[in-house]
Amino acid sequence: MIDKSRKVRVKIPASTANLGPGFDTLGMALGLYAWIEMGFANETKITLFGDQMQGIPTDKSNLVYEVAQMVFQRAGVSCPELDIAMYSDAPLTRGLGSSASAIVGALAAANALIGSPLTNDDLFQMATELEKHPDNVGASIFGGLVVAFWDGERAEHIRVEPDERLEVLVAIPHFQLSTEKARHVLPREQSLANAVYNVGHSSVLVAAFCTSRLDMISHAMKDALHQPYRAPLVPGLGRILAEATDHGALGVALSGAGPTILALVDRSSSQKDELEAFMKETLKQEGIEATTMWLMPDRAGVQVSEVSPAEREASLFDNIKGEIRI
Ligand code: HSE
Repeated sequence: MIDKSRKVRVKIPASTANLGPGFDTLGMALGLYAWIEMGFANETKITLFGDQMQGIPTDKSNLVYEVAQMVFQRAGVSCPELDIAMYSDAPLTRGLGSSASAIVGALAAANALIGSPLTNDDLFQMATELEKHPDNVGASIFGGLVVAFWDGERAEHIRVEPDERLEVLVAIPHFQLSTEKARHVLPREQSLANAVYNVGHSSVLVAAFCTSRLDMISHAMKDALHQPYRAPLVPGLGRILAEATDHGALGVALSGAGPTILALVDRSSSQKDELEAFMKETLKQEGIEATTMWLMPDRAGVQVSEVSPAEREASLFDNIKGEIRI
C-alpha cells in the first residue's frame, strides 16, 4: 500500500562525461548539485526555482514528470498527479550532465516515493536507455568515477573511487551547445589508428585512476575520436587542450559534449590561480566569457531523503538554501 502523504527529496550530482578518450564510457560525478522534491497531489503542480530553469515546461511534458511516470508504470502502480519542485546549481546544456541529472533524479525520487521496488541497477538500465550514454547517468547514480558501456540492451559499469588529491576546475562558457549538435559534427566512421589511439589512452587513464598514478593523467587524457572535431565549436579549446598542463593541470578535456572545459588538478598544486586565469583568458581572447568553478568529485551519487512534516510546509528552495552555491 502506497502512503500518499509522503514526499521525498533527492540531491543529484552533476557529471562530466568522456574525460577525454573515454568517449561515452568514462564519467565522473561532480560536487555541483540539483535537487528535486516529489510528492503526490490531487492535481499536478511543477514549481521551478533558480535561474537555470528557464524554458523548462511546468506541465505534464516536463521530463521529470514523464520519467517518474515510467517508474510507476514499470512498478505497476498508478500515480498520475504529482507535486514536483526543482532547483539546479548546475547550468543546462553546457556539458555537465544536466539532462542525466534530471533523469536520475526523477527515477530515484519516483522509486523512493513508492517504496523503492526498483534496484539501483534497474534505475541505471532505465536511465541509460533514456539518455543513451551510460557515462553521465552512471556517475550521477553511483558517484565517483564510473567506467561503463552500453550494448544497446544492458549497461555495465564499475565504480572507481576518485583519488583524494583530485580537484576539478571547470570553465563554463556563456553559451549553450546541445549534445545533438556536438554529436552531429562527428564522422560516422573512424580510422583503426584513431580507435587504437583511444583504446590505449582510455585504458591507461582508467589504470592511472585505479592505481593513483596522477603523473600518468597528462599522457593518457588525450583523444582522437571527438575533441578534434568539436574544437571548432568551442574556440580556444584547442589551445587549452594543448597548453593547460604547462599551467598546472594534470589533464584537460572537453566536458561531455561541451562547451564546458574541465581540468583535473592536484588540489595541493601551487598553480591553481595560474591555471584558472589561463583558461579564462584563453577563452576571452576568442570573445568567449566563461564562469570558472572549483569542484570536488562527488562520491555519494544520488541521495534520497524523506521530506519532514515541517519541511513540507516550506518550499524546496527554503529547505535547501543552506546547501546551494549562491
Ligand atoms: N558522451 C557524450 C558525448 C556526452 O560526448 O556526446 C553526453 O552524454
